[in-house]
Amino acid sequence: MKYDLEDQLRTDVTELGRLILGMRAAYARGENVMEYARKTAGALGNSPVSTLIAYDLQAGTYIAGARANPEARARWCGQLAEILNPYISTQSSILEVGCGEATTLAGVLKRLDNTPRHALGFDISWSRCAHGMTWLEENGASARLFVADLFEIPLEDSSVDVVYTSHSLEPNGGHEEAAIKELMRIARHAVVLVEPIYELADAEAQERMRSHGYVQGLKEIAEKLGATVRDCRLLDYCGNPLNPSGLVLIEKTNMSLPEGSDIQWRCPLTHAPLIANSTGFYSPGTGLVYPVLSGIPLLRTSHAVVASSFGLLNVKKPVCGG
Ligand SMILES: C[S@@+](CC[C@H](N)C(=O)[O-])C[C@H]1O[C@@H](n2cnc3c(N)ncnc32)[C@H](O)[C@@H]1O
Repeated sequence: MKYDLEDQLRTDVTELGRLILGMRAAYARGENVMEYARKTAGALGNSPVSTLIAYDLQAGTYIAGARANPEARARWCGQLAEILNPYISTQSSILEVGCGEATTLAGVLKRLDNTPRHALGFDISWSRCAHGMTWLEENGASARLFVADLFEIPLEDSSVDVVYTSHSLEPNGGHEEAAIKELMRIARHAVVLVEPIYELADAEAQERMRSHGYVQGLKEIAEKLGATVRDCRLLDYCGNPLNPSGLVLIEKTNMSLPEGSDIQWRCPLTHAPLIANSTGFYSPGTGLVYPVLSGIPLLRTSHAVVASSFGLLNVKKPVCGG
């Protein structure tokens, strides 16, 4: 299935209005909200907006889970750090795509042999990033979190040394090719996909994955895109045997490129360079600004604000209450 940005923008706006109240009500009734959205939209797969609402409603539950079962969290993060270690030096940049509440990112950063120079994470849900910031702080880890869509990542080509996922491609079944292409675009050295591997799962797990609209065929699709897949296997440890975690390890051909400098942001809509500051990410070439909400940059295409004067004026803070 092709990922079309124009279709996506149209759908985002209408779907948000159509789904938000119903999904919130379904969540309050304790129902599976993704299933509710699929039925309401009559869709075969999960749309980005339903994924966003569903995950945003659950914000805080991963941290609660990590607190309740620290041994499982430590094992999961240790396993990922082992895979990532060969690619990370003190000069590296690393990005977790779909980082949720940073429960994996914080644990991975603490277990890497080298602390990377830049650590980044983004998620489609602001609430999850907000919980993630507190979790990072509580765990003495440091990373820059922002809101973005993995299909339109606001970073320049080959600008992050190592890009990894931990079950974030999972709900994006039907859009595997667009997702892998985008991750390969921004990665300089390696793309490490830690995702359920449909082809290596048993029949019961496959049936569950199909019913949830999970990704399939990751290795085959990566190879079709010309990627060098260095490893593909199930992992020793996995939280849920019905959702078997596996690895698809992609090395870029330009492994000899020097490790990166500073992070280079780009407008997800026009691809023009963005200048970052604490109030907004501004593109002088287009006059578009992406706002920052309580310290978390909002960098989805639908967040763009036309504000040509942003870079020119020193806008004074409004006086509340008149
Ligand atoms: C199963 S959770 C995993 C979270 C985190 N990686 C971890 O290991 O705890 C999947 C995450 O992917 C995010 N996600 C799914 N689709 C996304 C998209 N298109 N863009 C950005 N994030 C996405 C969800 O919001 C959710 O936080």
